[in-house]
Amino acid sequence: MALLDRRGFGRLALGGTVAAVAAATSGCSAAPIEPAPGARPLRDRAAARGLEFGCEVQHLELRDPAYAAVVAREAAMIVPGTELKWGETEKVRGQPDYAAAEEIAAFAEAHGLRLRGHTAFWYGNMPPWAKAEMRGPDARAVMLKRVSDVVGHFRGRIFEWDVVNEAVEPKDGQPSRLRLAPFGRPVDYGWFADCFHAAHRADPKAKLYYNDYFVEGAMGMEEERRIGVLDFLSAMKRLGAPIHGFGTQSHLAVGRALAPARYARFLADVANLGLEIRVTELDVGDYKLPADIATRDQAVAAYARDYLKPVLAQPATRGVMAWGLRDRDSWLQKVIPRPDGLPERPSPLDDQLNRKPLWEGIGEAFDAAPMHHRSA
Ligand code: XIL
Repeated sequence: MALLDRRGFGRLALGGTVAAVAAATSGCSAAPIEPAPGARPLRDRAAARGLEFGCEVQHLELRDPAYAAVVAREAAMIVPGTELKWGETEKVRGQPDYAAAEEIAAFAEAHGLRLRGHTAFWYGNMPPWAKAEMRGPDARAVMLKRVSDVVGHFRGRIFEWDVVNEAVEPKDGQPSRLRLAPFGRPVDYGWFADCFHAAHRADPKAKLYYNDYFVEGAMGMEEERRIGVLDFLSAMKRLGAPIHGFGTQSHLAVGRALAPARYARFLADVANLGLEIRVTELDVGDYKLPADIATRDQAVAAYARDYLKPVLAQPATRGVMAWGLRDRDSWLQKVIPRPDGLPERPSPLDDQLNRKPLWEGIGEAFDAAPMHHRSA
C-alpha cells in the first residue's frame, strides 16, 4: 500500500509508534528512522496542486513555541476553534471581547498565514442572553447585529468566514429541513440570506461560506442532510445572498460507511451552484477500533485518504483544514471517548508533534489530486 511504503515513511519525522507501523507493514526491521529535515510540509504538498492545507488552533496552545513553530510550518491557513464563537466574544451583551481571537489573528499575521473565521452565526455556542433573545421578537435583529459586529471587527483581516454554521437538521421535522431548536419556531431562509448580506457589508472582500456536517456518508440521515444542505445553498443563491462557498466539516470515524459516488455527486451539485468547497474540520475518530496503536493509525490514515479522493478530485475544492493538528488537542478526546479509555488518535501529529500515518495519508491525497486552477 502506497500509504505505508518505505518511501513515504522515509520522509516522515517518526516517533516510536509510527516506526512500529512502518516495520509491521514494510517487512523491514524496526531500526529507528531519522526524521527527515527536508520533508515537505503539508502546506507545500497542497500548494503543489493549487490547494491549501490548514488547521484549527487555540490561542493557549499557540503560546507553546514548539507547537507554534509546527503550525507555521505545516499550515497555510488557521482557524480559531472557539475564540470567535458568540459565546466567547460577547459573554456580556454589548461588551465584546476579542482578545483571545486577536491573539490568533496576530499569529496568523506574523507568519503570513490566512485566517478563517469560525463562526458568525451558530446555534451551538451562544451566550445565555443570546439564547433567550433567539426565542423572542427581536431574534432576527440580534442575529444580524452579531454577524455585523464580529465580521466588521476583523474587516480586511479574515480571508474567509463561516457565516452560518449547521443550519440544517432534518430531525427537527420542518419541511425545509432547517434546524428548529435554536429559535423554538420555524424560521425561513431569508434570515440566513440576510446574515450573508450583513457579513458582506461588514467585510466586502471576505469569502463567505455556509458550513455543515455529516454529508459524506451512507447513513439515511446523511442523505437527508445532503438534501437539506443543497436546498439551503440553492435558496441562498435564489435570494441573491453573497455566498461563495460550502464548508464540509468532515468529522469522520473509521467504521462509518462512506458513500464516495453519492458524495461526489453532492459536491458536483454544490459546485454547479457556482460555489467553492473546503474541507473545514477534518478529523478521524478511532473509537471503533481496537487498542493497538499501529492498527489504529494505519486504518485512520487509509480512511482519510479514501475520503479525500472524491473531494480533491472536485475542481471547486480549495483545500483541507484539520480540526486540530495534534491528537491531544482534539475535541474528540472529550466528546466521543474510546470505550477502553485510551486517548484517541484522530489528528495528523502525535502528542510529541511527530508526523503520523494520517499526516502521510493527507499528503498522499494531495499528491494524487489533479491540479486546481483558481481565478481568485
Ligand atoms: C468544537 C470545538 O472543537 C470544541 O473545543 C468545543 O468545545 C465545541 O466545538 N462543529 C463545529 C465546531 O462547527 O465549531 C465544533 O468545535 C466541532 C463541530
